[in-house]
Amino acid sequence: MIDTRQIEVKHVSESRLPKVDFDNLPFGRVFSDHMLIARYDEGEWKSVSIEPYGNLSLSPATSMIHYGQSIFEGLKAFRNDNDEILVFRPESNWERMNKSAERLCMPAVPREYFVEGIRQLVELDRAWVPNRPESSLYIRPFLFATDEMLGVKPSESYIFMIITSPVGPYYANPLHLKIETEYTRAAPGGVGAAKAAGNYASALYPAKLAQEQGIDQLIWTDAKEHRFLEEAGTMNMMVVIDGTLITPKLSSTILPGVTRNSVLKLAEDRGITTEERDISVDELLDAHRNGTLQEVFGVGTAATIAHVVKLTHNDEIIDLPPIQSRKVSTLVGTDLLDIKMGNAPDPYGWNMRI
Ligand code: COI
Repeated sequence: MIDTRQIEVKHVSESRLPKVDFDNLPFGRVFSDHMLIARYDEGEWKSVSIEPYGNLSLSPATSMIHYGQSIFEGLKAFRNDNDEILVFRPESNWERMNKSAERLCMPAVPREYFVEGIRQLVELDRAWVPNRPESSLYIRPFLFATDEMLGVKPSESYIFMIITSPVGPYYANPLHLKIETEYTRAAPGGVGAAKAAGNYASALYPAKLAQEQGIDQLIWTDAKEHRFLEEAGTMNMMVVIDGTLITPKLSSTILPGVTRNSVLKLAEDRGITTEERDISVDELLDAHRNGTLQEVFGVGTAATIAHVVKLTHNDEIIDLPPIQSRKVSTLVGTDLLDIKMGNAPDPYGWNMRI
Protein backbone atom coordinates (compact mmCIF):
# COMPACT_ATOMS: atom_id res chain seq x y z
CA MET A 1 0.00 0.00 0.00
CA ILE A 2 1.40 3.40 -0.93
CA ASP A 3 1.59 6.38 1.42
CA THR A 4 -1.63 8.22 0.66
CA ARG A 5 -0.35 11.52 2.00
CA GLN A 6 2.06 11.61 -0.92
CA ILE A 7 -0.27 11.86 -3.88
CA GLU A 8 1.96 12.23 -6.90
CA VAL A 9 1.06 15.33 -8.92
CA LYS A 10 1.65 15.84 -12.64
CA HIS A 11 0.84 19.42 -13.64
CA VAL A 12 -0.69 20.59 -16.91
CA SER A 13 1.77 22.36 -19.16
CA GLU A 14 -0.78 25.06 -19.98
CA SER A 15 -3.98 25.85 -18.10
CA ARG A 16 -7.29 25.95 -20.02
CA LEU A 17 -8.64 28.50 -17.54
CA PRO A 18 -8.27 31.62 -19.78
CA LYS A 19 -10.71 30.03 -22.28
CA VAL A 20 -13.53 29.64 -19.71
CA ASP A 21 -16.47 32.07 -19.72
CA PHE A 22 -17.37 32.18 -16.03
CA ASP A 23 -20.46 34.29 -16.79
CA ASN A 24 -21.97 31.48 -18.88
CA LEU A 25 -21.32 28.19 -17.17
CA PRO A 26 -23.55 25.35 -18.31
CA PHE A 27 -23.86 22.61 -15.66
CA GLY A 28 -21.12 19.98 -15.90
CA ARG A 29 -19.63 20.66 -19.32
CA VAL A 30 -16.43 22.48 -18.44
CA PHE A 31 -13.73 20.61 -16.52
CA SER A 32 -10.84 21.93 -14.49
CA ASP A 33 -7.19 21.31 -15.38
CA HIS A 34 -6.53 18.30 -13.14
CA MET A 35 -8.16 15.05 -12.00
CA LEU A 36 -7.37 12.45 -9.38
CA ILE A 37 -7.08 8.81 -10.38
CA ALA A 38 -6.54 5.79 -8.13
CA ARG A 39 -6.38 2.13 -9.10
CA TYR A 40 -7.48 -0.91 -7.12
CA ASP A 41 -6.54 -4.48 -7.95
CA GLU A 42 -5.93 -7.82 -6.21
CA GLY A 43 -7.52 -6.64 -2.96
CA GLU A 44 -5.64 -3.38 -2.51
CA TRP A 45 -5.27 0.18 -3.71
CA LYS A 46 -2.16 0.24 -5.88
CA SER A 47 -1.66 3.84 -6.95
CA VAL A 48 -3.06 7.34 -6.65
CA SER A 49 -2.08 10.44 -8.57
CA ILE A 50 -3.29 13.82 -9.70
CA GLU A 51 -2.84 14.32 -13.42
CA PRO A 52 -3.92 16.62 -16.23
CA TYR A 53 -7.64 16.10 -16.99
CA GLY A 54 -7.89 13.78 -19.96
CA ASN A 55 -9.41 10.73 -21.59
CA LEU A 56 -9.10 7.18 -20.30
CA SER A 57 -8.21 4.17 -22.35
CA LEU A 58 -10.40 1.17 -21.49
CA SER A 59 -10.99 -2.29 -22.92
CA PRO A 60 -14.35 -2.75 -24.70
CA ALA A 61 -14.91 -5.62 -22.24
CA THR A 62 -14.62 -3.35 -19.18
CA SER A 63 -17.22 -4.81 -16.83
CA MET A 64 -18.65 -1.44 -15.73
CA ILE A 65 -19.80 -0.81 -19.31
CA HIS A 66 -21.73 -4.07 -19.44
CA TYR A 67 -23.12 -4.56 -15.92
CA GLY A 68 -23.14 -1.09 -14.42
CA GLN A 69 -20.94 -1.50 -11.37
CA SER A 70 -20.51 2.25 -11.11
CA ILE A 71 -21.26 4.75 -8.34
CA PHE A 72 -20.64 8.44 -7.87
CA GLU A 73 -20.92 11.40 -5.52
CA GLY A 74 -21.50 15.12 -5.95
CA LEU A 75 -20.36 17.97 -3.70
CA LYS A 76 -19.32 21.58 -4.08
CA ALA A 77 -16.56 24.05 -3.27
CA PHE A 78 -17.46 27.71 -2.79
CA ARG A 79 -15.34 30.89 -2.92
CA ASN A 80 -16.40 33.73 -0.64
CA ASP A 81 -15.71 37.47 -0.73
CA ASN A 82 -12.55 37.00 1.36
CA ASP A 83 -11.26 34.61 -1.32
CA GLU A 84 -11.54 31.65 1.04
CA ILE A 85 -12.47 28.30 -0.49
CA LEU A 86 -14.78 26.00 1.43
CA VAL A 87 -15.85 22.47 0.53
CA PHE A 88 -19.23 21.47 1.98
CA ARG A 89 -19.42 18.21 3.98
CA PRO A 90 -16.85 16.04 2.16
CA GLU A 91 -16.83 13.52 5.02
CA SER A 92 -20.58 12.88 4.55
CA ASN A 93 -20.14 12.21 0.85
CA TRP A 94 -17.22 9.91 1.58
CA GLU A 95 -19.31 7.91 4.06
CA ARG A 96 -22.18 7.67 1.59
CA MET A 97 -19.89 6.60 -1.24
CA ASN A 98 -18.67 3.70 0.84
CA LYS A 99 -22.24 2.65 1.66
CA SER A 100 -23.03 2.69 -2.06
CA ALA A 101 -19.80 0.72 -2.67
CA GLU A 102 -20.86 -1.98 -0.21
CA ARG A 103 -24.28 -2.33 -1.87
CA LEU A 104 -22.65 -2.69 -5.30
CA CYS A 105 -19.92 -5.15 -4.12
CA MET A 106 -17.17 -2.59 -4.63
CA PRO A 107 -14.17 -1.79 -2.40
CA ALA A 108 -14.31 1.08 0.09
CA VAL A 109 -12.44 4.20 -0.98
CA PRO A 110 -9.88 5.31 1.63
CA ARG A 111 -10.64 8.63 3.33
CA GLU A 112 -7.18 9.84 2.26
CA TYR A 113 -8.11 9.42 -1.41
CA PHE A 114 -11.57 10.93 -1.13
CA VAL A 115 -11.32 13.73 1.41
CA GLU A 116 -7.60 14.52 1.18
CA GLY A 117 -7.75 13.94 -2.56
CA ILE A 118 -10.45 16.61 -2.84
CA ARG A 119 -8.39 18.93 -0.65
CA GLN A 120 -5.31 18.60 -2.86
CA LEU A 121 -7.20 18.71 -6.15
CA VAL A 122 -9.21 21.80 -5.22
CA GLU A 123 -6.09 23.48 -3.81
CA LEU A 124 -4.27 22.83 -7.09
CA ASP A 125 -7.19 24.07 -9.22
CA ARG A 126 -8.33 26.77 -6.80
CA ALA A 127 -8.38 29.37 -9.60
CA TRP A 128 -11.25 27.34 -11.12
CA VAL A 129 -13.59 27.94 -8.17
CA PRO A 130 -16.01 30.60 -9.40
CA ASN A 131 -16.83 33.68 -7.32
CA ARG A 132 -20.15 34.56 -8.98
CA PRO A 133 -23.40 34.25 -6.98
CA GLU A 134 -25.00 30.81 -7.38
CA SER A 135 -21.77 29.44 -8.88
CA SER A 136 -19.41 26.88 -7.39
CA LEU A 137 -16.93 24.17 -8.26
CA TYR A 138 -18.90 20.93 -8.57
CA ILE A 139 -16.78 18.00 -7.41
CA ARG A 140 -17.56 14.60 -8.88
CA PRO A 141 -15.89 11.57 -7.22
CA PHE A 142 -16.73 8.22 -8.88
CA LEU A 143 -15.78 4.57 -8.70
CA PHE A 144 -16.22 1.96 -11.42
CA ALA A 145 -15.37 -1.63 -12.21
CA THR A 146 -12.54 -2.26 -14.67
CA ASP A 147 -12.14 -6.04 -15.03
CA GLU A 148 -11.84 -7.06 -18.67
CA MET A 149 -14.46 -9.75 -18.38
CA LEU A 150 -17.95 -10.61 -19.60
CA GLY A 151 -18.95 -12.96 -16.77
CA VAL A 152 -21.48 -11.53 -14.34
CA LYS A 153 -19.64 -11.22 -11.04
CA PRO A 154 -18.10 -8.45 -8.94
CA SER A 155 -15.05 -7.03 -10.65
CA GLU A 156 -11.68 -7.47 -8.99
CA SER A 157 -10.24 -4.20 -10.27
CA TYR A 158 -11.60 -0.66 -9.99
CA ILE A 159 -10.77 2.94 -10.76
CA PHE A 160 -11.64 5.77 -8.38
CA MET A 161 -11.51 9.27 -9.82
CA ILE A 162 -12.33 12.84 -8.91
CA ILE A 163 -13.01 15.45 -11.57
CA THR A 164 -14.20 19.00 -10.94
CA SER A 165 -16.32 21.38 -12.95
CA PRO A 166 -17.09 25.08 -12.42
CA VAL A 167 -20.87 25.41 -12.57
CA GLY A 168 -23.71 27.88 -12.45
CA PRO A 169 -27.26 27.04 -11.28
CA TYR A 170 -28.56 23.55 -12.11
CA TYR A 171 -32.13 24.65 -12.86
CA ALA A 172 -32.66 27.99 -14.57
CA ASN A 173 -36.29 28.23 -13.44
CA PRO A 174 -38.66 26.92 -10.74
CA LEU A 175 -40.01 23.49 -11.58
CA HIS A 176 -43.15 21.90 -12.94
CA LEU A 177 -43.20 18.27 -11.75
CA LYS A 178 -45.46 15.39 -12.68
CA ILE A 179 -46.50 12.88 -10.03
CA GLU A 180 -45.40 9.65 -11.72
CA THR A 181 -47.94 6.84 -11.51
CA GLU A 182 -46.58 4.32 -13.99
CA TYR A 183 -42.77 4.15 -13.89
CA THR A 184 -40.62 3.61 -10.84
CA ARG A 185 -37.23 4.95 -9.76
CA ALA A 186 -36.55 2.36 -7.06
CA ALA A 187 -38.15 -0.68 -5.49
CA PRO A 188 -37.78 -1.90 -1.89
CA GLY A 189 -34.63 -3.97 -1.56
CA GLY A 190 -33.12 -2.48 -4.72
CA VAL A 191 -30.37 0.10 -5.09
CA GLY A 192 -32.41 3.29 -4.66
CA ALA A 193 -30.51 4.29 -1.53
CA ALA A 194 -27.17 3.97 -3.33
CA LYS A 195 -25.81 6.63 -5.68
CA ALA A 196 -25.57 4.06 -8.44
CA ALA A 197 -25.18 5.23 -12.04
CA GLY A 198 -27.96 2.88 -13.18
CA ASN A 199 -30.56 4.69 -11.05
CA TYR A 200 -30.07 7.74 -13.20
CA ALA A 201 -30.17 5.79 -16.47
CA SER A 202 -33.50 4.16 -15.61
CA ALA A 203 -35.04 7.54 -14.79
CA LEU A 204 -34.26 9.03 -18.19
CA TYR A 205 -37.09 7.50 -20.22
CA PRO A 206 -40.01 8.42 -17.91
CA ALA A 207 -38.52 11.91 -17.49
CA LYS A 208 -38.24 12.26 -21.27
CA LEU A 209 -41.93 11.36 -21.68
CA ALA A 210 -42.85 14.08 -19.18
CA GLN A 211 -40.53 16.59 -20.86
CA GLU A 212 -42.33 15.97 -24.15
CA GLN A 213 -45.43 17.33 -22.38
CA GLY A 214 -43.56 20.45 -21.25
CA ILE A 215 -42.99 19.16 -17.71
CA ASP A 216 -39.53 19.52 -16.16
CA GLN A 217 -39.19 16.39 -14.05
CA LEU A 218 -41.03 13.73 -12.08
CA ILE A 219 -42.07 13.13 -8.53
CA TRP A 220 -41.23 9.48 -8.01
CA THR A 221 -43.74 7.47 -6.01
CA ASP A 222 -43.49 4.07 -4.35
CA ALA A 223 -43.08 1.08 -6.65
CA LYS A 224 -46.00 -0.93 -5.29
CA GLU A 225 -48.98 1.41 -5.29
CA HIS A 226 -47.70 4.80 -6.54
CA ARG A 227 -49.36 6.22 -3.44
CA PHE A 228 -46.45 7.70 -1.50
CA LEU A 229 -44.00 10.43 -2.49
CA GLU A 230 -40.36 9.38 -2.75
CA GLU A 231 -38.04 11.74 -4.61
CA ALA A 232 -38.24 14.70 -6.98
CA GLY A 233 -36.21 14.22 -10.18
CA THR A 234 -32.62 13.65 -9.00
CA MET A 235 -33.33 15.27 -5.61
CA ASN A 236 -34.87 14.44 -2.27
CA MET A 237 -38.27 15.95 -1.81
CA MET A 238 -39.71 18.20 0.91
CA VAL A 239 -43.10 19.76 1.56
CA VAL A 240 -44.35 22.27 4.11
CA ILE A 241 -47.87 21.67 5.35
CA ASP A 242 -49.25 24.04 7.97
CA GLY A 243 -45.74 25.13 9.02
CA THR A 244 -44.33 21.61 9.39
CA LEU A 245 -41.45 20.55 7.15
CA ILE A 246 -42.06 16.98 6.01
CA THR A 247 -39.84 14.70 3.95
CA PRO A 248 -40.11 10.99 3.10
CA LYS A 249 -38.28 8.92 5.69
CA LEU A 250 -35.12 7.12 4.61
CA SER A 251 -35.57 3.59 3.30
CA SER A 252 -34.04 1.32 0.67
CA THR A 253 -35.71 3.48 -2.01
CA ILE A 254 -34.59 6.92 -0.85
CA LEU A 255 -31.09 8.37 -1.31
CA PRO A 256 -29.78 9.68 2.04
CA GLY A 257 -29.10 13.16 0.69
CA VAL A 258 -26.47 15.38 2.31
CA THR A 259 -28.53 18.48 1.49
CA ARG A 260 -31.64 16.70 2.86
CA ASN A 261 -29.84 16.07 6.14
CA SER A 262 -28.46 19.64 6.28
CA VAL A 263 -31.86 21.22 5.62
CA LEU A 264 -33.52 19.11 8.33
CA LYS A 265 -30.85 20.07 10.89
CA LEU A 266 -31.03 23.79 10.06
CA ALA A 267 -34.84 23.76 10.18
CA GLU A 268 -34.76 22.12 13.62
CA ASP A 269 -32.25 24.76 14.79
CA ARG A 270 -34.74 27.40 13.68
CA GLY A 271 -37.48 25.79 15.78
CA ILE A 272 -39.35 24.54 12.71
CA THR A 273 -41.16 21.24 13.31
CA THR A 274 -39.79 18.53 11.03
CA GLU A 275 -41.18 15.08 10.26
CA GLU A 276 -39.55 12.20 8.37
CA ARG A 277 -42.42 9.95 7.39
CA ASP A 278 -44.56 8.68 4.55
CA ILE A 279 -46.43 11.39 2.64
CA SER A 280 -49.21 10.16 0.42
CA VAL A 281 -50.24 11.80 -2.84
CA ASP A 282 -53.73 12.13 -1.30
CA GLU A 283 -52.33 13.99 1.71
CA LEU A 284 -50.47 16.37 -0.61
CA LEU A 285 -53.53 17.04 -2.77
CA ASP A 286 -55.86 17.39 0.25
CA ALA A 287 -53.46 19.88 1.83
CA HIS A 288 -53.47 21.83 -1.43
CA ARG A 289 -57.29 21.82 -1.53
CA ASN A 290 -57.69 22.95 2.06
CA GLY A 291 -55.02 25.65 1.72
CA THR A 292 -52.45 24.19 4.12
CA LEU A 293 -49.87 23.17 1.49
CA GLN A 294 -47.37 26.02 1.67
CA GLU A 295 -44.24 24.75 -0.06
CA VAL A 296 -42.98 21.94 -2.26
CA PHE A 297 -39.28 21.77 -3.10
CA GLY A 298 -36.47 19.45 -4.07
CA VAL A 299 -33.14 19.38 -2.23
CA GLY A 300 -29.86 18.14 -3.69
CA THR A 301 -26.24 19.11 -4.08
CA ALA A 302 -26.51 20.28 -7.65
CA ALA A 303 -29.67 22.37 -7.29
CA THR A 304 -29.49 23.03 -3.49
CA ILE A 305 -33.17 24.04 -3.12
CA ALA A 306 -35.34 23.83 -6.23
CA HIS A 307 -38.80 25.32 -5.82
CA VAL A 308 -41.72 23.45 -7.35
CA VAL A 309 -44.39 25.84 -8.62
CA LYS A 310 -46.63 23.47 -10.59
CA LEU A 311 -47.68 19.86 -10.23
CA THR A 312 -49.32 17.60 -12.77
CA HIS A 313 -51.32 14.72 -11.36
CA ASN A 314 -53.11 12.63 -13.99
CA ASP A 315 -54.95 15.30 -16.03
CA GLU A 316 -54.97 17.93 -13.32
CA ILE A 317 -52.46 20.82 -13.22
CA ILE A 318 -52.02 22.40 -9.81
CA ASP A 319 -50.47 25.81 -9.18
CA LEU A 320 -48.58 25.95 -5.91
CA PRO A 321 -48.16 29.00 -3.65
CA PRO A 322 -45.83 31.73 -4.99
CA ILE A 323 -42.15 31.48 -4.12
CA GLN A 324 -42.23 34.85 -2.27
CA SER A 325 -44.61 33.30 0.29
CA ARG A 326 -42.32 30.36 1.11
CA LYS A 327 -40.92 31.06 4.55
CA VAL A 328 -39.31 27.73 5.48
CA SER A 329 -37.26 27.10 2.33
CA THR A 330 -36.24 30.77 2.16
CA LEU A 331 -35.06 30.83 5.77
CA VAL A 332 -33.27 27.50 5.69
CA GLY A 333 -31.88 28.10 2.18
CA THR A 334 -30.32 31.38 3.38
CA ASP A 335 -28.86 29.73 6.49
CA LEU A 336 -27.41 26.95 4.38
CA LEU A 337 -25.81 29.32 1.89
CA ASP A 338 -24.38 31.49 4.70
CA ILE A 339 -22.69 28.45 6.22
CA LYS A 340 -21.42 27.16 2.88
CA MET A 341 -19.92 30.57 2.05
CA GLY A 342 -18.33 30.92 5.49
CA ASN A 343 -20.52 33.96 6.23
CA ALA A 344 -22.09 32.40 9.34
CA PRO A 345 -20.78 30.17 12.14
CA ASP A 346 -20.48 26.50 11.19
CA PRO A 347 -21.76 24.79 14.36
CA TYR A 348 -21.63 21.28 12.88
CA GLY A 349 -18.13 21.61 11.40
CA TRP A 350 -19.49 20.98 7.91
CA ASN A 351 -16.94 23.01 5.93
CA MET A 352 -13.49 21.87 4.88
CA ARG A 353 -11.41 25.00 4.39
CA ILE A 354 -8.87 24.76 1.55
C1 COI B 1 -26.86 16.13 -7.12
O1 COI B 1 -27.71 16.91 -6.70
O2 COI B 1 -25.65 16.21 -6.81
C2 COI B 1 -27.25 15.10 -8.03
O3 COI B 1 -27.14 13.97 -7.74
C3 COI B 1 -27.69 15.52 -9.33
C4 COI B 1 -26.68 15.12 -10.33
C5 COI B 1 -27.05 13.81 -10.91
C6 COI B 1 -26.45 16.18 -11.34
